[in-house]
Amino acid sequence: MIVYSKMEYKTLNNGLQMPMVGLGVYDIPERETQRVVEDAISVGYRSIDTAAMYYNERGVGNAVRACGVSREELFITTKICDSCYSRDETMRSVDHSMRQLGLDYVDLMLIHWPVGNPAVMWHALEELYGQGLFKAIGVSNFYPNTFPMIVKGARVMPVVNQCETHVLYQQRKMMEYLQPYNVALEAWSPLAEGKHGIFKNPVLKRVGEKYGKTAAQIALKFLIQNGIIIIPKTTHKERMIENIDLFDFMLADDDLSDISRLDTGRNVTGWPSDALKYNPESL
Ligand SMILES: NC(=O)c1ccc[n+]([C@@H]2O[C@H](COP(=O)([O-])OP(=O)(O)OC[C@H]3O[C@@H](n4cnc5c(N)ncnc54)[C@H](OP(=O)(O)O)[C@@H]3O)[C@@H](O)[C@H]2O)c1
Repeated sequence: MIVYSKMEYKTLNNGLQMPMVGLGVYDIPERETQRVVEDAISVGYRSIDTAAMYYNERGVGNAVRACGVSREELFITTKICDSCYSRDETMRSVDHSMRQLGLDYVDLMLIHWPVGNPAVMWHALEELYGQGLFKAIGVSNFYPNTFPMIVKGARVMPVVNQCETHVLYQQRKMMEYLQPYNVALEAWSPLAEGKHGIFKNPVLKRVGEKYGKTAAQIALKFLIQNGIIIIPKTTHKERMIENIDLFDFMLADDDLSDISRLDTGRNVTGWPSDALKYNPESL
């Protein structure tokens, strides 16, 4: 059994240490989730990213309890349901997630999308953060047209903004935008959902040959070497191992610049930006 004990951490703006690589569990049916998360933890993952909308928080919580690794060593992220307009709705959404997970606290609670009333949701999360229910709070899919709704009047700054980010959509403008707020960028779909020929990309393959790594590993390493937290999803144990085996090499400057030229500057998954009628050109 290969277990990766090597891990790098991002120090978030509240001092919390977050693993640079975690497992995303979007689209994994609840009946499979416990097995997948236990597999991931067994090969060295310590960070798991779920959401109320994934309908598998229960499987994540079961794995946390069954895995044999102490709760303090794990970093569990979830996201409240969308479309809360009031403090009460937000509290009910949080309560639902906590009951599904069956945990005393979560490490990172995110607002999934900028819908409902983001400012009201944020103030409710701030309140619960103050009570110790979350180790950190953050947002997801907030762009400059919506991020100010959170920071205006915030008592607690988000620690992360989780957005679509991968070699085809590198989010350099977003990185610049978030920097003055000291908010970390966390990449969702860091492998571009495994689409758009990413694993056959000639640049990623050529660079991979140089380091004895796969195209997937080069795509992921490019992100973490740029300081971006990643949560690739896979249900296959051998790919879990592949996606975390990133800490024994560094990409040289010329390779970084070759990969940076793969950036299309645009969302390629089709959502959430399209769903929110957000225009990336306005960044
Ligand atoms: N906040 C948001 O709005 C939001 C939106 C989307 C995603 N997310 C989060 O981000 C996580 C990751 O994003 P994602 O699931 O959309 O896509 P992803 O991680 O970019 O790609 C996952 C796809 O790539 C395949 N794959 C993974 N590793 C591979 C490897 N080493 N070689 C070949 N194929 C590989 C997987 O297949 P197999 O599973 O068959 O291996 C799956 O089809 C999600 O699970 C979720 O936690 C958040």
